[in-house]
Amino acid sequence: MGKLIVMDHPLIMHKVAIMRSKDTSVKDFRELVNEIALLMGYEATKDLQLTETEVETPLMKTKGFVVEKQVALVPILRAGLGMVDALMSLIPAAKVGHIGLYRDHETLQPVEYYCKLPTDIEKRQVLVLDPMLATGGSSVAAIEFIKRRGARKIKLVCIIAAPEGVRAVQEAHPDVDIYVAALDEKLNEHGYILPGLGDAGDRLFGTL
Ligand code: PRP
Ligand code: URA
Repeated sequence: MGKLIVMDHPLIMHKVAIMRSKDTSVKDFRELVNEIALLMGYEATKDLQLTETEVETPLMKTKGFVVEKQVALVPILRAGLGMVDALMSLIPAAKVGHIGLYRDHETLQPVEYYCKLPTDIEKRQVLVLDPMLATGGSSVAAIEFIKRRGARKIKLVCIIAAPEGVRAVQEAHPDVDIYVAALDEKLNEHGYILPGLGDAGDRLFGTL
């Protein structure tokens, strides 16, 4: 069973509270998604492999450690895009794939409309990015696409998750660890997370 890591860091909790508010503007919402993704990225990259190297300071030679090129970021469109810049600033050498999925409003099933992934994805640690994990349908499908292309090391990074979505991902992909900033109560009858924050894509891009 994959691990569930709930990141109850005070700064993350503070920012999630502001994000949830219906009075938070599109601009502030976007900035908060970026800041939370940055803080989550620190934790989600903790086990990246290091290679020893030699560095020359102005005073002497010393041992250093570098992170080799080994990460692929895969945002689930649209809302996952809001988390990419933060992770790219932490790992500038990361490659970025995109998976376009939307939830059919009637069936709540994910519908694919785009998929472009790095060709060497099987060699990389993949971080799948999506602010919302609701029924889990989108994340489960995205991880399936990524695995079909050969990826073996995958983590899912979401800001807000419902227990239903966590269970769905853990059942479908027991090898995938899930990082969340907040584990909410449940889904409502329309598949929205309660208390949640509403529609993340609409709040990020101002399409309310
Ligand atoms: C939202 C969200 C997730 C998905 C979560 O995207 O960003 O991708 O719903 O729901 P699920 O766990 O039940 O699949 P949405 O389908 O609204 O598309 P958008 O990002 O383009 O707005
Ligand atoms: N997608 C969202 O953006 N919000 C939810 O609460 C559920 C799915």
